Amino acid sequence: MKKKFYITTPIYYPSGKPHMGHAYSSILTDIIARFKRLEGFQVFFLTGTDEHGLKIQKSAEKVKSETIKYCDDLSSIFRKLSDQLCLSNTDFIRTTENRHKNTVQKLWELLSKKDQIYLSKYSGWYSISDEAYYSNDEIIDVEGSKKAKVSGSLVEWMEEESYFFKLSSYENKLLDYYNKNPDFIQPTSRKNEVISFVKQGLKDLSISRTTFDWGIKVPGHKKHIVYVWLDALTNYISASNYFKCGQDAPWPADIHIIGKDILRFHAVYWPAFLMAANIPLPKKIFSHGWILSGEEKMSKSKGNILDPIEIIEHYGIDELRYYLSKEVVFGADGKINNENLEICINDLANNIGNLSQRVFTLIEKYYNSKMPEKSQNYTRSSLTMINTKDFQKYLYNLEIHNYVREINKYSSKINKYVNDNEPWNRKINSDENIRNILYTSINSLKNIFILLSPIMPKKSNYFLNLLGLKSYDFNTLDKDIPSDQKLIKPGILFKKY
Ligand code: ME8
Ligand code: MG
Repeated sequence: MKKKFYITTPIYYPSGKPHMGHAYSSILTDIIARFKRLEGFQVFFLTGTDEHGLKIQKSAEKVKSETIKYCDDLSSIFRKLSDQLCLSNTDFIRTTENRHKNTVQKLWELLSKKDQIYLSKYSGWYSISDEAYYSNDEIIDVEGSKKAKVSGSLVEWMEEESYFFKLSSYENKLLDYYNKNPDFIQPTSRKNEVISFVKQGLKDLSISRTTFDWGIKVPGHKKHIVYVWLDALTNYISASNYFKCGQDAPWPADIHIIGKDILRFHAVYWPAFLMAANIPLPKKIFSHGWILSGEEKMSKSKGNILDPIEIIEHYGIDELRYYLSKEVVFGADGKINNENLEICINDLANNIGNLSQRVFTLIEKYYNSKMPEKSQNYTRSSLTMINTKDFQKYLYNLEIHNYVREINKYSSKINKYVNDNEPWNRKINSDENIRNILYTSINSLKNIFILLSPIMPKKSNYFLNLLGLKSYDFNTLDKDIPSDQKLIKPGILFKKY
């Protein structure tokens, strides 16, 4: 039985078309998912759309669409994006699905039975754009309008009957948990922000609304709908069918990948809800930084978005995935632009692309497009022996950028080996030598593309198929391509700009 690994993206608001920020979260999550599959795990990879709440209801009203029709249309755009990004997700959840509604109601009943919920009245600030409550000291006055300090979004005063979750009683339990599980929230700098937020004291959290109805009904009190964040966070257990399958469900998640905007919800509210319901906590929450457009966060409301589809159509999905994973330090903010993307693709073409081109040209010319026979005294070159630990350490630390850079280093080493040994030069090389050099080079290229496959799934798959490999994982790193294997020369792998 394979060991399971459960990883998630945020579920996105379908309140507009997806942009590069959404693509970024999803791609980086996919890279980890694919890496874990190479390691031999059975991977559950969940993404989806977060469709309830006032923000969505208002977006639908704006275009005079029926709310569910609006969600159907936009959710399908996000679903299509998953394919365009080459995501290997095993599920796509919509919070308007019955499997999810039932789970949220079940969780509510559980919390209620455990006496974690009470009815009262909320009065305070609310941001529809963030779907978040803010206290007085989290609000600033900007030219006469009240805004949330953290996000800069408008807030309005709200007063209504509401159910509350006893969040205040989880202050010490959370702090204790963070302390005992130092890797629970990453990166560390953000963990520290969460800790100081909790240390300031937690107030009970309003978890139902009565002034609109686009949401999941509170069991036994139909006037109330469930607060959209309690609704949304529960998606991670709805999809894993936890209430039905218990221990056999993929839950708990091994890692939630999110942006830093929604860390408080995932690192404070979500674990508190789960503790209250006596459900196991996710193992890790990793919050990455912003994709910036110029100096600013790329966002729908700022209108400064790069459309991932345009980039994919022009440069290719693997190129985009490579660029985002290599150039943006995972966890930090990163500026992106077309100029840097082109520089990055050119480097790929000059390194890995060029290596493949040179080696295949010789294979075609001298060996009739077959894997050459190695000499009898050939000892396996250390160049083709990969110590997976060198690569795993970066993935385990979620230094995806360093993982990619390590592959590039390996490819540069092989390029240097080919340069130094000149397999095209028959004056200095015997036929036996040339065969050995090419044998080593092809097996190194095989390794490069196996290691690259989480980053560039399409190109890697294409390349490895040409070597006769239909399926592969980390064990394939140790297996040489057999002599006489038919090798098909790839076309230009990376176009230069
Ligand atoms: O917050 N750079 O949905 P959302 C990097 N539905 N990542 C970005 C980004 C940027 N400029 N802009 C967005 C929600 N993201 C809730 C989540 S989860 C139970 C519910 C990514 O559509 C990043 O992952 O506003 C961020 O956290 C997420 O999109 C927010 O997406
Ligand atoms: Mg948002």
